[in-house]
Amino acid sequence: MARKFFVGGNWKCNGTVKSNEELVKVLNAAEVPGTDVVEVVVAPAAVHIPQVLASLRKDFSVAAQNCWVKAGGAFTGELSAEMLADLGLPWVVLGHSERRHIIGESDEFIADKVAYALSKGLGVIYCIGEKLEEREAGNTLDVNARQMKALADKIQDWSKVVVAYEPVWAIGTGKVATPEQAQEVHDAVRKWLADNVSADAAATTRIIYGGSVTAKNCGDLATQPDIDGFLVGGASLKPEFVDIIKSATQ
Ligand code: G3P
Repeated sequence: MARKFFVGGNWKCNGTVKSNEELVKVLNAAEVPGTDVVEVVVAPAAVHIPQVLASLRKDFSVAAQNCWVKAGGAFTGELSAEMLADLGLPWVVLGHSERRHIIGESDEFIADKVAYALSKGLGVIYCIGEKLEEREAGNTLDVNARQMKALADKIQDWSKVVVAYEPVWAIGTGKVATPEQAQEVHDAVRKWLADNVSADAAATTRIIYGGSVTAKNCGDLATQPDIDGFLVGGASLKPEFVDIIKSATQ
């Protein structure tokens, strides 16, 4: 079952109107494989979504980096899934490790967010990943399975979910997982889907890798059988993001 390669750029809490203009100009001029080969999504800071939506090439999509757990209302500072759908956004990133470990969002709260966003027609890039101490304690696969179960307890339809495996110890550190380390977890997540959801979900769900991906290391990672793309942080703010998109044809 061929799964379309998926490359996301998570701009995080970065950018200005000017710097976004410059980055979008680079992306709009880039020669990249067609949309039949790779799906490209960029996730600007919420305040910049309208600017990027209006200026980005139409064969790339825009995602939000988060949304609220229910309909809007008296939730100051939050963005509802309805607002994102109203803007025509096809994707939202949920469960990023920075929201789990800095903001303190629980497995269940994130899973409820995913279920609600899916119910409003959004696609979800669902982030999982272990901390260094969890890996060093030999708990890598258990932690990722726990995070997968938290979501499986809340949803049945995985057709609009992309799973992003982002080992916390690789995010922003320059310490990218080796292709073997990443493949081991991707394989385990795919097997988890087969055992706990369905053979179809296992075969069709894109499982992408995030954590210090660069133009230099993406090629070796992209050749792994269960790595279906990337969720890129720092490098997505630079022209090298184009080279990472091109790794879809590795
Ligand atoms: O969501 C992607 C991000 O967490 C990875 O960040 O800078 O290590 O590519 P970075």
